[in-house]
Amino acid sequence: MRILVTGGAGYIGSHTVRALVERGDRVVVLDNLSTGHRDATRGAELVVGDLRDGSAVRRALRRCRAESVVHFAAKALVPESVRHPEEYFDVNVVGGLTLLREMTHYGVKKIVFSSSAAVYGEPRARLIHENLPYDPINPYGETKALFEKMLKAFCAAFGVGSISLRYFNAAGAAPDGALGERHDHETHVIPLVLRAALNPRKRFSIFGTDYPTPDGTCVRDFVHVCDLADAHMLALGAVRPGKCEVYNLGCGHGYSVREVVETAKRVTGRPIRIAEGRCRPGDPPRLVASSQKIRKRLGWKPRHASLESIIRDAWRFELAGRR
Ligand code: UFG
Repeated sequence: MRILVTGGAGYIGSHTVRALVERGDRVVVLDNLSTGHRDATRGAELVVGDLRDGSAVRRALRRCRAESVVHFAAKALVPESVRHPEEYFDVNVVGGLTLLREMTHYGVKKIVFSSSAAVYGEPRARLIHENLPYDPINPYGETKALFEKMLKAFCAAFGVGSISLRYFNAAGAAPDGALGERHDHETHVIPLVLRAALNPRKRFSIFGTDYPTPDGTCVRDFVHVCDLADAHMLALGAVRPGKCEVYNLGCGHGYSVREVVETAKRVTGRPIRIAEGRCRPGDPPRLVASSQKIRKRLGWKPRHASLESIIRDAWRFELAGRR
């Protein structure tokens, strides 16, 4: 298959690019390298350009004569989206619209979209199903919901087929240590816990200890980045022009922030100093997916579902010095 991957130099994008290249697909990556890494796109052709630049998108589509698009390129930090909503609407919505316009113009009718559990906001349900309504509580979630809605409209008007994959908490790294999570300004829980394990002078701050959860800290559903890559490959095979679908991607098991710290202590064999801090605005107490739909319809099954294996792979990558 000939595939354009936007944001293919980023964390989840690069793991997916690698899986596609290993499968023998022809992959062109469009990435402006604002947060991504050139060396994470090995085996693919990289077009350095911005999603909001129609000519760059056209160039990338032409370069591989794309049959399908996997769309990762986005700004993706919740707290930053609260401080700078203008950047989030610009990149995620205006950039997304540019991509859809160029795809339609070029006749590409299949897209797999990197969506998020953030479209649900703070649902009360113990397990979150895809039929819950959109109710985002931050600009990041708003932009993901808006792009999903654009996909629906492009499906009705132009027959574009889409699969939106709503990830819960992406984590882990390639088991061979070749790829992993490399953000300049890290905000995610597992890499930060592991950096506190690496450096005894560092403390890991727990954001909030009086949530209505069993141990008072937030509960999240972690899903291994390689399992996310598998889901994109399945989605690429299943997406049909004129059909617009959404699927959750999580393991269906919630772990609290304290459980993450305890598991990281076991996996690393090192002490981890913690500080108990205040809640971070916009953090829902509990987000756990039902992924029955994608398991049943696309046959997706996480291969690295345990928190231990997710943390073990992330640790190997941290130890290697976050190349
Ligand atoms: N946390 C801490 N200390 C830290 C960092 C995080 O206690 O130093 C806590 C957070 O408060 C939260 C949990 O760890 O309760 C997970 O936080 P992350 O930042 O790792 O992930 P989020 O759940 O905030 O974000 C993830 C994705 C987003 C997505 C969101 C859906 O990264 O893209 O889930 O709400 F939008």
